[in-house]
Amino acid sequence: KTQEPVYRIGFSQCTTNDAWRRAMLAGMQKELSFHPNVQFQMLDARNESDLQQRQVRELIRQKVDLLLISPNESGPLTALAEAAYNQGIPVVILDRRTTSRLYTAYVGGNNREVGRTAGHYAAQLLGGRGQVLEILGTPGSSPATERDLGFRQALAGHPALQLTAQVNGNWQPASVLRRLPAVLRAHPEVDLIFAHNDPMAQAAYQVARQLGRAGHIRIIGVDGLAGPGNGLQLVEDGILKATLLYPTGGEEAIRTALHILRQEPYEKENVLGTMIIDSTNVGTMRPQTELLAQQRQDIQRQQLLLQEDLRRFASQKTTMSLLLTS
Ligand code: FRU
Repeated sequence: KTQEPVYRIGFSQCTTNDAWRRAMLAGMQKELSFHPNVQFQMLDARNESDLQQRQVRELIRQKVDLLLISPNESGPLTALAEAAYNQGIPVVILDRRTTSRLYTAYVGGNNREVGRTAGHYAAQLLGGRGQVLEILGTPGSSPATERDLGFRQALAGHPALQLTAQVNGNWQPASVLRRLPAVLRAHPEVDLIFAHNDPMAQAAYQVARQLGRAGHIRIIGVDGLAGPGNGLQLVEDGILKATLLYPTGGEEAIRTALHILRQEPYEKENVLGTMIIDSTNVGTMRPQTELLAQQRQDIQRQQLLLQEDLRRFASQKTTMSLLLTS
């Protein structure tokens, strides 16, 4: 069997500081455990676009064999992703997009559909009438832009449903805890909150409870992660009315990267589906996704053990042949 060449994948990740990004990395590591010939380097931009620009420049300077990137904001990272692409470095865009079509492949959800599905669900919950508040992700990050577009598009079909206020939550619960109280006080009639991710939705619940309004306001989030304190549990505990599943695409990103590196056929657009998770299906979803997460860990552990055995076997073989030839 011929040895696979060493591939160097550089991953510019906008942040590593939340459960969704950790789940993405776990999916990547599982998939990478099948490919010990891949050198994987992840740089964490800590939600800062200028830091991410410097890190992408560094990966380009190192001439990585493939650049994976999840841009913190679309604008500031577009020129660099294009530059890498134009230099012949394959670029795989993950979850958040640039504003350009110059990339090798995209892996991630359809965020407009996420927003639209949330809007239709909200309309159904409220019987087509009421006041809605939206908590957005970082302005200029593509999922925030697209979730908002889709959400407003769906609401537009319901004239008695009003988008009363919007709050920028920057994808982070701390921003929601800081900004939401004043906005909620200014709008005593809010019936429903759509937050662009589950951590911000959970923070919205905290604020609503502090104001004594948690009993009335229904909250919808996005992500639907398994694991303690994450979206599925929040739905099961009744803190969130629903969450929209938003797959991380970690495994698919690595698989796509390998197809590209090995010059195998691949899809340019790899769009992952979404679905509503609420009290009617969380009871079946949760055990299933938790099992999947567990299996992912088991697979990775087995692969690492297998690689270890292979290495040991290889060194035994060399010792053996040395003995035999001496
Ligand atoms: C995690 C996250 C998710 C969200 C995604 C959008 O960093 O904020 O909660 O769905 O990024 O890019």
